[in-house]
Amino acid sequence: MGITNREFKKRRKELMARMEPNSIGLLSSAPECLRNNDAEYQYRQSSDFYYLTGFSEPQAILALVPGRQQGEVILFCREKDIEKELWTGYILGPDAAINTLEIDDAYPIVDVDDIILGLIEGRDRIYYSMGKDDNFDGKVMAWVKNIRNNAKVGPPPPSEFQVLDHLLHELRLIKSPAEIKLMEKAAKISAEGHKAAMRRCNPGIKEYELEAELQYAFFRNGSRSPAYQSIVGAGDNACVLHYNSNSEEIKKGDLVLIDAGCEYDYYASDITRTFPASGKFTKEQRLIYEIVLHAQEESIKAVRPGNTWNAPHDVSVAIIAEGLLELGLLTGSLSQLLKSEEYKQFYMHRVGHWIGMDVHDVGDYKIDGHWRLLEPGMVTTIEPGIYISPSDTSVPKKWRGIGIRIEDDVLVTKTGYKVLSNGIPKTIDEIESFMSDQVG
Ligand code: GLY
Ligand code: MN
Ligand code: MN
Repeated sequence: MGITNREFKKRRKELMARMEPNSIGLLSSAPECLRNNDAEYQYRQSSDFYYLTGFSEPQAILALVPGRQQGEVILFCREKDIEKELWTGYILGPDAAINTLEIDDAYPIVDVDDIILGLIEGRDRIYYSMGKDDNFDGKVMAWVKNIRNNAKVGPPPPSEFQVLDHLLHELRLIKSPAEIKLMEKAAKISAEGHKAAMRRCNPGIKEYELEAELQYAFFRNGSRSPAYQSIVGAGDNACVLHYNSNSEEIKKGDLVLIDAGCEYDYYASDITRTFPASGKFTKEQRLIYEIVLHAQEESIKAVRPGNTWNAPHDVSVAIIAEGLLELGLLTGSLSQLLKSEEYKQFYMHRVGHWIGMDVHDVGDYKIDGHWRLLEPGMVTTIEPGIYISPSDTSVPKKWRGIGIRIEDDVLVTKTGYKVLSNGIPKTIDEIESFMSDQVG
């Protein structure tokens, strides 16, 4: 399982084919980040860079030069250094990189300033991610300036800059069968984590103890990192959309909202389940849960080619607004509520986002100002929710502090959809019976 060199090569070819003639594309690896003093954050390659190379080391630059006779794909990377490797681990080095990554050429990163000028010279335009990495912005400008300063005797500098992101991200938006397999694997591991947390949950334990169950399941199954900071919010904390301190005690009567997904081989999963700490929903929790579940199920059904990306969102809004009207939490007519967007008091986010190498993945949601159409190979999350703030005095007290979200990762197929994140209890019956089995 994984992405083959053949696929990495195909991606580069495809990207180069989409670039205007006589261009060069430049990409930088992700910077290394200090956490504090000498301790660094775990290094994670930039998704764009990895997508095109399969190369996970820092301090690297990729040049794509379509049509160049002596080679189109050139990597600059750290030199082999046996002594340094004793401290910081294996370095591939330029010589081995050529064969291992099946690229045309590779040079030490320390020589990039000299060599890259020859690659840029004579090209009309440069594609790169502008304004994302100050250090790389500075480097590209310095190279162009250098060429301009010599333009009287040498070739002119490129006259145009283009953002690489758009071309590259349209490719990343449509997932190949190998990518889908990795996403399914990530979701499967996350499902193990969610089930372990549900199993472990008992009033009296801390939110971070459930986070530990998630993390253990992720690592035990080959994931090296969550795809984002896990959210484990009990009681009122479930109403905080990006809660992640995960530090409080879980109490009897609380709902526990867990939004967590692992990253597996550079692919993310993003799953949310909400369940009662004690294993049994209260009447109010049950009523709200049924609305969110219905909204999620129906929104998933709206994922199919030809529907707009926004169609599932509209479905979720209509069901949630209608449900809240029936419970008297909203008043007025449905059409008026949809227009005034008063439902945003309880459902303030969109139904989902692209997911892939990044949890909030790349790719435009609109084309020429209109919601784009879903196409086979796209993957989106479907994650409606209802959050009744504990301090919302406009609703009767019994509803306050209920926060529920249900989230799955959904692939657009040729004929409809496929849920990639299966196997975690989701209906009220499934959750209650799963939790009573664990206790009993
Ligand atoms: N976990 C982030 C999100 O659901 O978008
Ligand atoms: Mn999520
Ligand atoms: Mn999400």
